[in-house]
Amino acid sequence: MRFGGKVVIVTGGGSGIGEATVRRFAGEGASVVVGDVRAEAMTRVLGELGDDRHLGVVVDVIDPAAIERMIEQAVARFGRIDTLVNNAGMGSFGRVTEIDMAHWDEVMRVDVASVFWASRQAIPHLARTGGSIVNVASASGMAADYGFAAYNAAKAAVLNLTRAMAIDHAPQVRVNAVSPGLTATPLATGLTGNPAVMAAYDGVLPMGRPAAPAEIAATIAFLASDDAAYVNGHNLVVDGGMTAHTGQPNFTRLLGEASHLAGAESAVRR
Ligand SMILES: NC(=O)c1ccc[n+]([C@@H]2O[C@H](COP(=O)([O-])OP(=O)(O)OC[C@H]3O[C@@H](n4cnc5c(N)ncnc54)[C@H](O)[C@@H]3O)[C@@H](O)[C@H]2O)c1
Repeated sequence: MRFGGKVVIVTGGGSGIGEATVRRFAGEGASVVVGDVRAEAMTRVLGELGDDRHLGVVVDVIDPAAIERMIEQAVARFGRIDTLVNNAGMGSFGRVTEIDMAHWDEVMRVDVASVFWASRQAIPHLARTGGSIVNVASASGMAADYGFAAYNAAKAAVLNLTRAMAIDHAPQVRVNAVSPGLTATPLATGLTGNPAVMAAYDGVLPMGRPAAPAEIAATIAFLASDDAAYVNGHNLVVDGGMTAHTGQPNFTRLLGEASHLAGAESAVRR
């Protein structure tokens, strides 16, 4: 029980990666604050946990006052915070020429400003417990995708905000990020549910499949745990090797297995 007696806040805990993270921490003994803008999703997850040591909070992370209330409620109920998982986020599709200022602002507020403000509220409490923050960024924060301009910018900002907070608030508070690649959640069904898109992913995902939400949750729990006591300011990429690829064509496929092996043999002889 790595998190027995600990209190963990997970924003966006009503679905996908957030829900899997809630289940992971709860399974390892934590009291979990499940924050989500959708009351019914939050209530469902809380009900399925079936344990009154957890707390559900309806929070729209676009609203700073709502974030403040979530932190206050957590402290009022449990008297401490050990981990904040800034997971709530929204996707965005469109090139710069296709999105307007209102959409840009919404993406920046939900995906970036919420991380700033929740961290701002939680850090004094985390400093008292020697706690940590885990931000859910994205492989899309590390390089660009076609048609994802605002999301690319937002997740890149989350990554550097992670580093800034990590150096500013150590040693009392550790701050790390997880960068998932394609993960099978409701957010990604526009991709995972589209056969043409998944066909195009063939050769892009070395693991041959999207991540399961629980696989991302496991790495979030690792970063929050004492096993990661000296891990600070790190971006843990959980993309099955997707961004390990240079982007060059698949030589094995294009040149054929036989010539590939022949090339390898001649390299060995040299
Ligand atoms: N699914 C992927 O392929 C993928 C890849 C990389 C990063 N991510 C990131 O992972 C995080 C979780 O995404 P997911 O795929 O689990 O999505 P999801 O849609 O399955 O779950 C997101 C949850 O966040 C909640 N939420 C959305 N906006 C909110 C708001 N304003 N305030 C509070 N709660 C809000 C939703 O109600 C939902 O329950 C996001 O930050 C996303 O950018 C996802």
